[in-house]
Amino acid sequence: MPFSLARTPRLVVQTSTGEKTPVVFGRRIESLVPAVMPRKPGFAWIIADRNVQSVADRLMRGLRGLGWQTGCSVIPPGEKTKKMSTIEGLCSGMHEGGLDRGGCVVAVGGGVTGDVAGFAASVYMRGIPVVQVPTSLIAMVDACIGGKTGVNLPGGKNLAGTFHQPYGAAVAADLLKTLPPRHYRSGLAEVVKYAVVFDRQLFKFIRWNAVGVREGDERLMLPVIRRCLELKAGVLRMDTLEHGKRAILNFGHTWGHAIEAAGGFRRLTHGEAVAMGMVLELKAASNLGMADASLAEAAGALLQEFGLPVKSAMEWRNRAAPWLAGDKKKLREAIPLVGFKKAGAIFLRRVNIKDILDATC
Ligand SMILES: NC(=O)c1ccc[n+]([C@@H]2O[C@H](COP(=O)([O-])OP(=O)(O)OC[C@H]3O[C@@H](n4cnc5c(N)ncnc54)[C@H](O)[C@@H]3O)[C@@H](O)[C@H]2O)c1
Ligand SMILES: [Zn+2]
Repeated sequence: MPFSLARTPRLVVQTSTGEKTPVVFGRRIESLVPAVMPRKPGFAWIIADRNVQSVADRLMRGLRGLGWQTGCSVIPPGEKTKKMSTIEGLCSGMHEGGLDRGGCVVAVGGGVTGDVAGFAASVYMRGIPVVQVPTSLIAMVDACIGGKTGVNLPGGKNLAGTFHQPYGAAVAADLLKTLPPRHYRSGLAEVVKYAVVFDRQLFKFIRWNAVGVREGDERLMLPVIRRCLELKAGVLRMDTLEHGKRAILNFGHTWGHAIEAAGGFRRLTHGEAVAMGMVLELKAASNLGMADASLAEAAGALLQEFGLPVKSAMEWRNRAAPWLAGDKKKLREAIPLVGFKKAGAIFLRRVNIKDILDATC
């Protein structure tokens, strides 16, 4: 296996802004999390989505046994929770619960929980630490590091937010057992993103092991998750604040976010939209001479094998086209598009929105 977890069960993410986030991997969340919490037990405020409340309860019992005082906010699951009023509610709850600047937040849930808990932690009392405990595949392979927090506004996705690097993160792949299959598949879209953009060996590995990966075989997935985080950490080391290279991680997300918005953030999951976004962006790159058509074919085939709705990409392209103009990466009517050289090297080029639209027809 090219990605051996046993050798290095811990990863330290170093950002270009000088922060360090330790990430631990394994099973049993209760024993993993304390390793990435502040050393001296204090007040830990757990923010969990309702569907993983039992995980939060287990974790709180474990922390109390180690001398921590705990409090908890349970938020409704789903993208609709990613709104400004959630942040106000969380901050008020923490204040009423007596959390002070010496405490920390522990986010237990998928990417939505991580984004809102991170946001609340970054503004509560002008900022307290947050520990990320991802429970969905998207959060495990992507959202739990990097420090992007945020909520959606009526005008679009993630339009308000902060950078707030997590104090630590703990990844227990056995939590994936209860994740609904649709959300698991959604996470596979982000795995494919990392493989296509950064690591042809990872791409071959998941293609070769497609059945086990699709079915969530833990022995395959823990090393795959770790590899994705390692690849993201490589980008964060160079450009945490997205002044340049980090925009590469938005591969599939330019169209993806437009598609999510066109679906009212309800019709599709983030990963489903990103899967279609990748297909459309590869098509655009290929038509603009920035990628080989064979890459678009291989990625599309793998996404389809993982059960992602790439066959509907053109239908969604038409609905999402008006939303593309609202992309927050837009500068003088152009947005960055990822291009792929033959040898696997990648590059970013600002392309006029009209040209992107024409190239995805
Ligand atoms: N900050 C970042 O860097 C970053 C990166 C990628 C995605 N995101 C954000 O993450 C969000 C998508 O994340 P997501 O797909 O995890 O969405 P999500 O948090 O809504 O989780 C998906 C669903 O799975 C449920 N769930 C999660 N873990 C579970 C478990 N172990 N068992 C049972 N149910 C479980 C949730 O309750 C929810 O219903 C989007 O808002 C996206 O913008 C952020
Ligand atoms: Zn994403």
